[in-house]
Amino acid sequence: MPDATHARIEDLVLRADEAVRQAEKRAADRQHPRGKLTVRERVERFVDPGSFVQIDAFTRHRGGEDDRPYGDGIVAGHATVDGRPVCLYAQDFAVFGGSLGEASAATAQKVLDLAVKIGCPVVGINDGGGARIQEGVAALAGYAGLARRHAAASGVVPQISLILGPCAGGAVYTPALTDFTVVVRKTSYMVVTGPDVVRAATGVEATLDELGGADTNATVSGNAHHLADDEDDALDWVRTLLGFLPANNRDPVPEYADDTSPGLTATDYELRGIVPDSENAAYDVTEVVSRVVDDGDLLAVHDGFARNMFCAFGRVAGRTVGVVANQPAHNAGVLDIDASEKAARFVRFCDAFGIPILTFADVPGYLPGVEQERGGIIRRGAKLVYAYSEATVPLVTVVVRKAYGGGYAVMGSKHLGADVNLAWPTARIAVVGAEGAVQVLHRRELAGLSGAARAEREREIADRLRHSHSSPYLAAELGYVDAVIDPADTRVAVARALRLLRGKTVGVPFRKHGNIPL
Ligand code: HXC
Repeated sequence: MPDATHARIEDLVLRADEAVRQAEKRAADRQHPRGKLTVRERVERFVDPGSFVQIDAFTRHRGGEDDRPYGDGIVAGHATVDGRPVCLYAQDFAVFGGSLGEASAATAQKVLDLAVKIGCPVVGINDGGGARIQEGVAALAGYAGLARRHAAASGVVPQISLILGPCAGGAVYTPALTDFTVVVRKTSYMVVTGPDVVRAATGVEATLDELGGADTNATVSGNAHHLADDEDDALDWVRTLLGFLPANNRDPVPEYADDTSPGLTATDYELRGIVPDSENAAYDVTEVVSRVVDDGDLLAVHDGFARNMFCAFGRVAGRTVGVVANQPAHNAGVLDIDASEKAARFVRFCDAFGIPILTFADVPGYLPGVEQERGGIIRRGAKLVYAYSEATVPLVTVVVRKAYGGGYAVMGSKHLGADVNLAWPTARIAVVGAEGAVQVLHRRELAGLSGAARAEREREIADRLRHSHSSPYLAAELGYVDAVIDPADTRVAVARALRLLRGKTVGVPFRKHGNIPL
């Protein structure tokens, strides 16, 4: 009957109004005074205009009769970003503080299941109080079920978390399971326990910022991979990131037209003048990397954390690569616990999603020290060795200057499975640096000297060792580097190598999974 249909459509309009417009008004009243966007504003700014399709807009919690808002504190669905599908869920802080109940958890789980089925990235926007206290174990079950799905989706589809408000307690472990986490200065918090609990349990006074503010997570603990200035910056960063990534672990990386010059350019020649002659002088490795990737375009990951290691996405000849580079501008580019873990996770992400890895080595070795040894540099440093060793994607390595000791071995060496290893004539590859070698190999002789005579003799032997022990031609003689190249040729040589390796396949014997040192 037309009238009945008309009435039902009107009823739908009213419900939709309650689910969207009224909810949005409530959210704006709550969020705007705090300098935060509403959940729908976030979604709309993130995706292509008009592309968002919400699912479960009418879901409600199954508790008492009163206060059962539509959506149950989550806005979820699918959309496109730059024309490519993406699934997403976003917590609505204006509804039960964005806490996850049984119903909203079911929606988030549904979105993850959908992302895995159709093979597209999934983005979670976190802004809430964690498991909904009123719902007790049902809320915990919902969160745990979500965590399990994030773990199952790991290595299948890219997973990205935005923290745009609080994320506390066990709730932190859902973003922690995803591949990339973005925080916003001043408004993001990620803590297992806040200041009150810390004081009560340990007697230590610490502010929320110190424990889990955006800066802490992005620069000290490394829980966050990007520190954004504001929400728009955070959403932009994620959109840019998605542009580098394949939709899933079976799809190829996005490919752009290759408009790079096949011949050497003025920028290529600049590569001859960046690395200082002195092996101990600092320089910024991004000056090298940006001259090798297309248009100097790099998206740094974990930029504020373990700055002695540089990890970034870029493109070579139109296709995505993951760049791993020691950063001599910070702590001489030494390998320490944080740098090893940062690079290991990045290498594993790239490997899982078929992204070739381009390594630039300039490393004095692993960092000595009580703190590092007691902190687990052996167990935790092993992660990077493991990550490179298990990687089956194309691996291209350029040794630009120092590659000493374990640092040589781990930074994409031939022995861990790299396919094409190049060295600049400025490369120094050895078990230890010449100065260190003098002290070990000539200790007895030097003990008989002192003052200027000793210093002079040390310098003399070090100069000799530099030629006899650390020349790149020794590694080239053994086939450990495939070619010693003019730095100016790097971009063209890397592009050629990556083109060659497009068809790389590696047979892997059956195993349930390896046991990476954790
Ligand atoms: C139900 C919650 C809630 C929660 C907040 N609210 N957290 N409701 N369950 N977990 C409600 C508040 O009652 C309030 O409702 C509204 O949300 C806003 O909260 P405020 O406290 O006023 O806001 P603010 O001062 O900004 O503080 C936000 C907060 C704080 C830091 C998130 O609310 C908080 O600490 N919440 C509890 C966090 C927590 O312990 N969660 C459990 C984590 S364990 P009204 O009606 O007043 O507006 C967990 C297990 C997951 O999540 C397991 C994963 C495997």
